[in-house]
Amino acid sequence: MFDKKRFMVTAALPYANGPIHIGHLAGAYLAADIFVRFLRMMGKDVVFVCGSDEHGAAITIKAKKEGLTPREIIDKYHVMFENTFKSIGISFDIFHRTSSELHHQTAKDFFMNLYNKGQFEERESEQYYDEEAHQFLADRYITGTCPKCGFENAYGDQCEKCGSTLNPTDLINPRSTLSGSTPVLRKTSHWYLPLDKYQVWLKEWINTGKLDGAELHDPATWKPHVLGQCNSWLDGGLEPRAMTRDLDWGVDVPSEIPGSDGKKLYVWLDAPIGYISATKQWAADHNRDWEPYWKDNDTALIHFLGKDNIVFHCLIFPGILHAHGEYILPVNVPANQFMNLEGNKISTSRNWAVWVHEYLEEMPGKEDELRYNLIKNMPEQKDSEFTWKGYQEVVNTELVNNLANFFNRVVVLTNKYYGGEIPDFDMEESFFSSSDPDMDTYFDSDIIHLYDMLSELHGHVMSFDFRASLKLVMEISTFGNQLLQLNEPWKIQKSEPERVAVVMNFALQITAVLAVVTRPFLPFASARMHEVLGMDFSEENGELVDIMGKLAEGEAILPAGHKIGEPIHLFTRITDEQVEIQIAKLENSKSASTEVALADTFVPLKPEISYDDFARMDIRTGKIIKAEKMEKADKLLVLTVDLGFEERTIVSGIAKHFSPDDIIGKQVTVLANLAPRKLRGVESKGMILMAENAEGRLMFINPDEDFPAGMTIQ
Ligand code: MF3
Ligand code: ZN
Repeated sequence: MFDKKRFMVTAALPYANGPIHIGHLAGAYLAADIFVRFLRMMGKDVVFVCGSDEHGAAITIKAKKEGLTPREIIDKYHVMFENTFKSIGISFDIFHRTSSELHHQTAKDFFMNLYNKGQFEERESEQYYDEEAHQFLADRYITGTCPKCGFENAYGDQCEKCGSTLNPTDLINPRSTLSGSTPVLRKTSHWYLPLDKYQVWLKEWINTGKLDGAELHDPATWKPHVLGQCNSWLDGGLEPRAMTRDLDWGVDVPSEIPGSDGKKLYVWLDAPIGYISATKQWAADHNRDWEPYWKDNDTALIHFLGKDNIVFHCLIFPGILHAHGEYILPVNVPANQFMNLEGNKISTSRNWAVWVHEYLEEMPGKEDELRYNLIKNMPEQKDSEFTWKGYQEVVNTELVNNLANFFNRVVVLTNKYYGGEIPDFDMEESFFSSSDPDMDTYFDSDIIHLYDMLSELHGHVMSFDFRASLKLVMEISTFGNQLLQLNEPWKIQKSEPERVAVVMNFALQITAVLAVVTRPFLPFASARMHEVLGMDFSEENGELVDIMGKLAEGEAILPAGHKIGEPIHLFTRITDEQVEIQIAKLENSKSASTEVALADTFVPLKPEISYDDFARMDIRTGKIIKAEKMEKADKLLVLTVDLGFEERTIVSGIAKHFSPDDIIGKQVTVLANLAPRKLRGVESKGMILMAENAEGRLMFINPDEDFPAGMTIQ
């Protein structure tokens, strides 16, 4: 892949319906950012695109919840995303949006192209429809009980409990999330992508890298969990998937197509095309040509994303790209798994998250501290965990004690011994090298050792192993610290100044290497190091090639006589208090979310009624004077209820909850003018009102003991 002439790198477009949290950063954006910055510093031609995903039920449902229009919601979060990503140093070449005119046009053209090629199957089917909201209920517009695990709040497209992919018609007891009502089935017609017909080539392409005789990627470089997820879908058999929806928010199905009225593109068709429209906008802004980035075989297309997006990027989007015919397919999809937080899954609805915009406000100037922690624990092969205690420990021991300490010591000593100038030295002079502490070595062989570390770093980054890359960067700093520790220049500066000059010169070359190699990981600290060392910090463009070239020649990066600035502390310690505040904040959302969890189990509100509707009900106080089991009906009790003006027979389905003896003499509330009905031959006249809790426990609504039977309730 790395012999390719150019790189097209995408990061999943976040839904513009909520802020960015650390799980997003660790899942997709940081990995992509490191990779892209590194490529640029290797002098590669790379375009890095992202943007807001502004369509689909995720947006309209959020809008409804907040009482805003979808437009207001996407504008709010789009601006927020731009700020957050910029502030945490994610270096997109463009952060676009799918609501843009250019995107709508691009997505429509794409759809039209597939339509004209006869790639879609138009099909009529029965789908759930909400008669009150006058809307078809796709995806998140419908919830119900998961047929696989019994979870009661599964979405129409997915069960968040067991992870199964569902269709709305799979749900047991479906309910509309719009009105809470039970939906009805209605006929509607949609365009389907025949994934079943792509099954064979997709399987072959994923697992061998080969398509139509061409060698497109090396599956050995794909992450096992990505291949595993793809294959489990493939083994289950791919099915045609509707690429359109009956919605009023999204990209219109092109009006040339008969029957397109009121139809929108499926959000998972339009969103990945967003990568293409973002590239088009970037090209227009920079007077470049977008097409080679998407259509030339000499381009490596790489998608970064979290594991919940794997199927869309490895099967469905490639299916679409290939059906179109002019586009290249990804050479890799290095998806990450999930990052958990303090032992629990990150959850937006339960507010169990570290929101990046809040972190930036509460921990100002600590962008790299967060980046460092998220990279160090990046869920590359399996789920990982972020904890505040871990954060504190890592910052204090690795960033402060190792990196910042080394950098500070070198700059302090250079200022002290040489007035801030890089010392010249005698090549013949020997010193202890930490690469091999038992031996006296010469400057040259240590330079080679540094060079080797950079090659190894390159290898890790190119295999998407960012944890190992970061570790290696820190090993360079450790190497520097050991160099100082072994030679103790502060003890021998008076007696052996020549030797100290070699040690310090070499230590300074290490700080220069660190300034450069930290840039993809810790761009803010890297900028500060550049400044102190008097190194040019302009746009990323071949810096690594430059320093590796110098090291390979045994040449210094900072030449003797070069002047550096004053010492600084790159990082400061995180105090107990700082992390305790953060932990307390999480504890708060835990207690708040218990309430939310209970609220979640509330039955949806019934449709509104008028006062007249209410006034027609005659509700009375009453008293149970007799109760007995109904024969052969284990749920029913036959009650005699005193209503003051008369005694009534009421059959009630409460036998599983109460025995007759428990309830004789109870004060109750009765709907007295309910039309009589016969239950097992017994005429029931009225209904006892009861409260039911989330676990299905029943409770009588008791009027006060001394209140007589027969009084009205309103
Ligand atoms: N918005 C989706 C999510 O947050 C990701 C879309 S990625 C793209 O899960 F491919 F559609 F762009
Ligand atoms: Zn389930």
